[in-house]
Amino acid sequence: MSNPSLLILPGDGIGPEVMTEVRKVIDWYGANRGLSFDVSEDLVGGAAYDAHGAPLSDETMARAQDADAVLLGAVGGPQYDVLDFSLKPERGLLRLRKEMDLFANLRPAQCFDALADFSSLKADVVGGLDIMIVRELTSGVYFGEPRGIHKEGNERVGINTQRYTESEIARVARSAFELARKRDNRVCSMEKANVMESGVLWRDVVTEIHAAEYSDVELSHMYADAGAMQLTRWPKQFDVIVTDNLFGDLLSDLAAMLTGSLGMLPSASLGAPMANGRPKALYEPVHGSAPDIAGQGKANPIACILSFAMALRYSFDQGEEATRLEDAVEAVLADGLRTADLIGEEGRAPVSTSEMGDAVLAKLTSSLS
Ligand code: IPM
Ligand code: MG
Repeated sequence: MSNPSLLILPGDGIGPEVMTEVRKVIDWYGANRGLSFDVSEDLVGGAAYDAHGAPLSDETMARAQDADAVLLGAVGGPQYDVLDFSLKPERGLLRLRKEMDLFANLRPAQCFDALADFSSLKADVVGGLDIMIVRELTSGVYFGEPRGIHKEGNERVGINTQRYTESEIARVARSAFELARKRDNRVCSMEKANVMESGVLWRDVVTEIHAAEYSDVELSHMYADAGAMQLTRWPKQFDVIVTDNLFGDLLSDLAAMLTGSLGMLPSASLGAPMANGRPKALYEPVHGSAPDIAGQGKANPIACILSFAMALRYSFDQGEEATRLEDAVEAVLADGLRTADLIGEEGRAPVSTSEMGDAVLAKLTSSLS
């Protein structure tokens, strides 16, 4: 049997440096756990625009469709701000999500004990936090039509459309309920049913799917604004949160910061199963391209390394190996190693991106003995 294929798209800014560390981890699994991948690399975002004049070429799109999993670094940079909307680096990422139909975006927010003091919230509010945000990723206001900026009389009007079909809501709700069953069995659905018809439909469909298929799971509903408030007040009340594309974008950044640094959080974007039974899948850190620190060895590679752990779990059925990698990260943090994003005013000197990667490898190796 041939090895599973992994397409790596490092992208822009700190993407390539954090991906270098992930490649070391991938190689470690090949050398030490008999888990080898056919790895190939390609361009996305500004890097693809610079090479081909488009943020994702058709050839790269086709390779992503064929891969068993895609691992992406980050896209974007200030030099691309002047580009037409359709050519911006972000469009490359949105095209991947849309054409691969990656409707369920899993964004775990876990607070490692060693980092509880880094959160802007009190340590007892975030210590031991373990929540999962399931964000709908292929519809809603990100993709709804009509959209654009046009002239009405003598002024311009900007339009975006929030649109959800029943089946789009139902499939992401199922993903959330399935995940909850493997966790604490609770789902909180967030929308704005008090002001938006799409929110009324969202609440109705989630309620129907729950009653028909998942009545063993505890379901609650919250308006998304109240949800944001509750996430900062007492985040541990949540297990799985399911929400739409735009609210999920906002709430997941909020949840990320509860854990101390955006540099820690991975994500998985999953679609329907392929012929080989694996879901269409793209894994990426939640942090962006951080152009201000790019190329200086300051970036934290942990979010990207943990994204590969999610790939092991959700694409390759290697839950134990995923846990091994997550434990290695936790052990490195417990030893006090910190990249620059995790250093407080009086903290000790930060380690570099590659030193952090090497430390994770060393913990992986010691996990074998
Ligand atoms: C995210 C990012 C993206 C989004 C951008 C880069 C298009 O903020 O993945 O959360 O808005 O979805
Ligand atoms: Mg975002």
